[in-house]
Amino acid sequence: MTQKLTIRRPDDWHLHFRDGDIMRGVVPYTARQFARAIVMPNLSPPVTTTALAAAYRDRILAAVPEGIDFTPLMTCYLTDGTDPDDLARGGGEGVFTAAKLYPANATTNSAHGVSDVERIYPVLERMEAEGIVLCVHGEVTDDDIDVFDREAEFIARHLRPITRAFPQLRVVFEHITTSDAVDFVTGAGANVAATITPQHLHINRNAMLVGGIQPHNYCLPVAKRETHRLALRVAATCGSPKFFLGTDSAPHLRRDKESACGCAGIFNAPNALESYLAVFDQEDALDRFEGFASLHGPAFYRLPVNDETVTLERADTLVPDTLDLAGEEIVPFHAGQTLGWRMVGQAGAARA
Ligand code: NCD
Ligand code: ZN
Repeated sequence: MTQKLTIRRPDDWHLHFRDGDIMRGVVPYTARQFARAIVMPNLSPPVTTTALAAAYRDRILAAVPEGIDFTPLMTCYLTDGTDPDDLARGGGEGVFTAAKLYPANATTNSAHGVSDVERIYPVLERMEAEGIVLCVHGEVTDDDIDVFDREAEFIARHLRPITRAFPQLRVVFEHITTSDAVDFVTGAGANVAATITPQHLHINRNAMLVGGIQPHNYCLPVAKRETHRLALRVAATCGSPKFFLGTDSAPHLRRDKESACGCAGIFNAPNALESYLAVFDQEDALDRFEGFASLHGPAFYRLPVNDETVTLERADTLVPDTLDLAGEEIVPFHAGQTLGWRMVGQAGAARA
């Protein structure tokens, strides 16, 4: 049985850092495990311009602990009023790696999102020309569509038309939760990929609703039924370059999750690698972990792979019930559970 696994240092292709004290509290968790992260722009107010993104990037870099090499990759929050020239300039200057499409009111801090996807077609056309990646929160928001069907409906209504209209645009279907999404991405061109979170590989909707409401297992898109979870596990572990790691780690304070209107989002940054690796171990796919965690993402984003390595060993890791963050409590994913792997020390030296 494999006891130790050394892989190129991974990247997180979908992450929420927030801002201020919370950001300063969560950045070290991610920087310990990942070399780079695609940082989501859904702050309040959102990161909609090159200038706002450059300033946010500086605040994140100031929060990276001494001696750790970590690069935040910034995203532009698309709105009905996005200026294609500013977006192109931000892309050209290396401030923006991607832009994020939130359908208005689909999730946390998305009120300023796009009200009608067709309205931003001129922006998508420019992104296609400039080579800026489009990250998509793929859920419709219509009241008459069941929350469990919103991802599948988004594919038919919006994603298929986008990929037809802009055949060269690189699109990442973020945090996919359904076999419909797996099938769509698998059947699309090489310019379409998807991120998969650890929670959607571990839990189905029962974890949210059985034995009382479990707010710490609530995120968007919501976990679906078991058949979908199994399809996601196959997609993540099959070796396809179209699927890669994106934690969607989304910190919310315990009191905001455990309230009458609990926030969507799961904070998984502290043990993200151990959580994913447990899945690859259960699926007998340890040899495919490096591809998912460290190779497929850079290939899609056309960035170099990391030279450093990380090592994980088979050892019990007890995930704490709560963590202290800026004097507040936050409950991590897998709270109180034991994971069978542990990351050893810091990132290692470049591989020969
Ligand atoms: C995210 C957040 O809290 O910012 N929440 C979530 O449930 N995933 C937003 C998002 O990615 O949808
Ligand atoms: Zn997210």
